[in-house]
Amino acid sequence: MTDQQQATGVPDEARFHLDCLWQPTESDPAGRLVFELSNMGTEPVEGFRLAFTTLRFVERDPAADNVRLIDRRGYFHEVAPPEGVQIAPGGVWRFSLGGITGVPQHRGEGIVSAYLTPVDGNRQAVTVGDLRRQASGETRATVAAGPARYALTPWPVEAELTPSDRLSGYIVPADGTTAEELSTVSTVTALFRRLFPLEPAPFSLMALPGDRLVRFASGAGLGREGYRLDFQDDEILVTAASAAGRQYALTALGQLLRGARAGGDFRFPARGHILDRPRFAWRGCHLDTARRFFLTGDIARFLDSLAYLRLNVFHWHLTDDEAWRLEIRGFPELTAVGAYRGPEAALPPQLGDGLHPSSGSYSHADVRALVAHAARLAIEIVPEIDIPGHSTAALAALPALVDPDEAAGSYASVQGFANNALNPAVELTWTMLEAVFDDLIELFPSAYLHVGGDEVAEGAWLSSPLTVRLMKDLGLDDAEALQSHFMRRVQARLTRRGRQLAGWNEVGNGVGVEPEGTLLTVWQKAAIGAGLAQRGYDIVMAPAEAYYLDIAHADGWDEIGMSWAGATSLEATYAYEVGDDIPSDLLPRLKGIQACIWTELIDSRAHFNHLVFPRLAAVAEAGWTLPARKDWSRFRELSAFCPTL
Ligand code: ACM
Repeated sequence: MTDQQQATGVPDEARFHLDCLWQPTESDPAGRLVFELSNMGTEPVEGFRLAFTTLRFVERDPAADNVRLIDRRGYFHEVAPPEGVQIAPGGVWRFSLGGITGVPQHRGEGIVSAYLTPVDGNRQAVTVGDLRRQASGETRATVAAGPARYALTPWPVEAELTPSDRLSGYIVPADGTTAEELSTVSTVTALFRRLFPLEPAPFSLMALPGDRLVRFASGAGLGREGYRLDFQDDEILVTAASAAGRQYALTALGQLLRGARAGGDFRFPARGHILDRPRFAWRGCHLDTARRFFLTGDIARFLDSLAYLRLNVFHWHLTDDEAWRLEIRGFPELTAVGAYRGPEAALPPQLGDGLHPSSGSYSHADVRALVAHAARLAIEIVPEIDIPGHSTAALAALPALVDPDEAAGSYASVQGFANNALNPAVELTWTMLEAVFDDLIELFPSAYLHVGGDEVAEGAWLSSPLTVRLMKDLGLDDAEALQSHFMRRVQARLTRRGRQLAGWNEVGNGVGVEPEGTLLTVWQKAAIGAGLAQRGYDIVMAPAEAYYLDIAHADGWDEIGMSWAGATSLEATYAYEVGDDIPSDLLPRLKGIQACIWTELIDSRAHFNHLVFPRLAAVAEAGWTLPARKDWSRFRELSAFCPTL
């Protein structure tokens, strides 16, 4: 972990994984710790040092086997392999240490953290597994009387399963698993350990008697994100065409095991198969980090919950009236001023701010760490810079963006922000946007860059003499026509640089932009989607009446959340069927669906969890599962397994 990454709180990429087994011995009542370090990278390693921390520190003669103990201070240990030991990709270095303090009593007393120092000194992250002991071979004391159920969310295309009565053990990769496959096992293990730190992980890379073995095969016919699971006498075959499909297969296995461990009617399969692929390519969730700043570690954890639900797009709302959160090279004021609110600041306190100033912005290092974390979980981050409206923070940060002759207070947004649109007739607007696009393109590999376009206030710009002159020169009659001109100019710049424009549905208002290659997020009313698709726009449906997760669950006075789009119960979110709003001939334009989380009233983790989960799982199931396979009562029961932030 580099110092820079440590500051972000985002998990690092790990090319090594460390497992540990506690083994009682006859000669020493405290027993030994047996370690396996797996190399999941593409290069062999040797001559390295391995550091790890464990409560059960080596106190006496370590009675080391196949290892040298170099250092031990408190719980910190550093070890090295004997001269000449090399770990090939996919290979393992096995060693053990005795002389430990006391007998481990709990799963959490194993390796808590680790890193590896190769010969070049560039330290590498190491993921760690649960402390293992010899499995007890436990079977279920009582097998529930009801039919077996399986804890899968989203529900798969096809599942024909016979339940197992055997409970114990972890799922472990069979011999011959490649480094790349091991890496997916380690990624999903780490994902479950982060999301559910109180539960045993579903996977271990160290095989013990009683474990279930998983093997891997590649299956080109399953599609980019599809997978197949075959269960035979507690052995499992995963078939997938890609790392994403493999990840989803392992996530499904992890969910099944979580359910079986929770008990009741939930079981792990002994035999049968699951065949699965998503309904939509775009299964998204948006998060407003402008109204409310989220630490990068919290965003990383939120990405974890998306991955668990097999959502694959994170629409990251980075700017709004209330704040500009993304560091832009050449325009430090955007974050220095535009991400700072307070009683004496250029931006006044907003919802949730009190007497103390509030601030928070994302550096390029933060963004890189999050983009990499998302990519490891098969999630694409689509950044949003919300222009030309919703731009109070940018205008406060860079007053030269304002036409000095525009009358103050000449128009206001629905949220009450006066004169909050970037002015297309001010040349600095375009210089600034060019710098913004430079940074977005460098930081985010996504095909789409989202440029907002929502809620430009009626009458915007019309009292700016510079704008009036521009409109006259261009022969434009009203603000809507000018917004189209603005967005078309943005689109031309993005297209020249190989990126595609995404925006909110208002981007299609009036003459809109060039539909070819444009993606619009439909939020205002589901009915708008079909019209946009008819005009040739690709669409993602995020109708506020069903998929805005900041809207309250119900109408009661004591409910939490926004009310402008009514109230949306979990059942209503689950019941919304996008196919009812898009005629079948336009379905090729429907790229998928998306939840949105606006944060004006999300004032705490409790608010967030109450509003977002498990409604997010309902959106995830709509994005993945065919309507005929959905089932409200099944979903409602399984929602108990949903993660939270
Ligand atoms: C939006 O809710 N203004 C996209």
